[in-house]
Amino acid sequence: MNDLKIIGGRVVTFQGGPIKGSCMDSPLVLENTNIIIDDGYITAIDSDKPAKKTIDAKGKLVIPGFVDCHTHLVFAGSREDEFEKRLKGVSYQEIAREGGGILSTVRATRNADRNTLIQLAKKRLDFALSWGTTTIEIKSGYGLSTEDELKMLEVIDELKKTSYQTIVPTFLGAHEFPPDRKREEYIDEILNEMIPCIAKRGLARFIDVFCEDGVYTKEETRRILLKGREFGLLPKIHTDELTSSGGSELAEEVGAISCDHLSYPSEEGIDAMKRAGTVAVLLPATTLFLSGKPAPARRFIDEDIPVAFASDFNPGSSPLLAMPLVMSLACLLYKITPREVLCASTINAAYAVREEKRGSIEVGKKADILVCDRKNEIPYWFGFNAVRYVVKDGKVI
Ligand code: NIG
Ligand code: FE
Repeated sequence: MNDLKIIGGRVVTFQGGPIKGSCMDSPLVLENTNIIIDDGYITAIDSDKPAKKTIDAKGKLVIPGFVDCHTHLVFAGSREDEFEKRLKGVSYQEIAREGGGILSTVRATRNADRNTLIQLAKKRLDFALSWGTTTIEIKSGYGLSTEDELKMLEVIDELKKTSYQTIVPTFLGAHEFPPDRKREEYIDEILNEMIPCIAKRGLARFIDVFCEDGVYTKEETRRILLKGREFGLLPKIHTDELTSSGGSELAEEVGAISCDHLSYPSEEGIDAMKRAGTVAVLLPATTLFLSGKPAPARRFIDEDIPVAFASDFNPGSSPLLAMPLVMSLACLLYKITPREVLCASTINAAYAVREEKRGSIEVGKKADILVCDRKNEIPYWFGFNAVRYVVKDGKVI
């Protein structure tokens, strides 16, 4: 007998992928439909086979679990002091130049032991799960030394073994420069110590760099990502967030799976992403929290670049972890439809973290499914948690 069936729901999903252009606005909608699940996989749609357990989804919305494809979920400390400074007009970059910002979280994270970091992260993961996040990417980057970056990645590895969600680890040693090292020395450490060791121990799938004015230059970003790729780490780039820093122009050369932020992409950057099939990961909560410029989401969609959304959860630029709220912000900031937002938060986000087996409701896919109160347009119910059941790998959580 099958393990589970979800019966009678209104199923809304995308199939295939990554989804581009006007297809992002056209999900498959199946009324009154059954989903059959066995051994963690979706085995049939709209059939009436028996199962050990049944979820009655009549009158409810059934969608794929959310994929939060860009977070900095492991950290200690908080930055509420900076929040107040920014409200008085001090900029994110000014705070960083004074030794606050990312470096303030680096100090707190270095001082925290593994167990503290694990406990903090677990609470956050449970919160995200209750809002429907079934897959989540987590970056290192608050260590900035071999020892502390490894500590962060080991914590992420531990979470991977003990959490409900699928966790995708990313090495972001190039998030800032540590104050206690010379620039070139630290880059050497990333290239010759961190990357080989992390790759050998299998502690990350992706490598990421914060390419921005005042942080890593385009040339440094290129060197780090090419080295990572040599060791089998797949490139992602934080780029064009505060200025047109040019990271997206590297998309084709380094084979970037995603470019993230993208408020100020150049024409050359857009062309390179298009040629490379790079996913544009946009972070609306960060844009709102830093009063930034919204990324040109409609332009990316028109250019047939797959668009995904993520929380960017972190203590400095986005203390928001609830994907339905991220989705509402995406609609409002980018003027895109709730259907496009669903696409960008499920299947396209799954492609941005190479979890293509997830992110949609299709026969043969992993059963990561949300049963929601029938709120046709989740993003419209701003700040309302409509998630009633989370099914993860076929199990009702
Ligand atoms: O994606 N932009 C760089 N990194 C994070 C912010 C990290 C922080 O402020 O602690 C981001 O917004
Ligand atoms: Fe980020």
